[in-house]
Amino acid sequence: MSERFHDLALIVNGEEVRERVDARETLVDFLREELGLTGSHVGCEHGVCGACTVRIDGVVVRGCLMLAVQCDGARVETIEGVSDLGEIADLQSAFETRNALQCGYCTPGMLLTAQELLARGGVPSREQIRAHLSGNYCRCTGYHAIVDAVEAVAQSRAGGRR
Ligand code: FES
Ligand code: FES
Repeated sequence: MSERFHDLALIVNGEEVRERVDARETLVDFLREELGLTGSHVGCEHGVCGACTVRIDGVVVRGCLMLAVQCDGARVETIEGVSDLGEIADLQSAFETRNALQCGYCTPGMLLTAQELLARGGVPSREQIRAHLSGNYCRCTGYHAIVDAVEAVAQSRAGGRR
């Protein structure tokens, strides 16, 4: 066996996955090209734009900055899995009703990053929301509607009114 290829076992969206992967393959390429999970996007490919955001063992990471082989034994969650669980249904609905997406390229990463903030509880300020999302680039919306959506969901989850 060539050292270039490695056997990988991990949990992706609740399902066990076993694959032989090229040591150089990034996590986001693995998810998209080997598993068909194309909700994680590839933008800058060097950790700047956030389009490739996924969760590893509950922590939001850049899928373009990790190699697939680094995820051996890990629990990986993509936008598909998080969406199917209904965990962010309110956030997705708020993005839609408040026009917080246009082309949608940034949206999966934006949703996962926003959920990371909202999962801490409480109602963050608009400045805190902007700061938390500052590593996720959006070329379409101007961000205002995204902040509106995240703020509305924070208030709703805290028991306030939208
Ligand atoms: S593609 Fe990973 S941060 Fe831009
Ligand atoms: S909606 Fe197009 S990049 Fe954000």
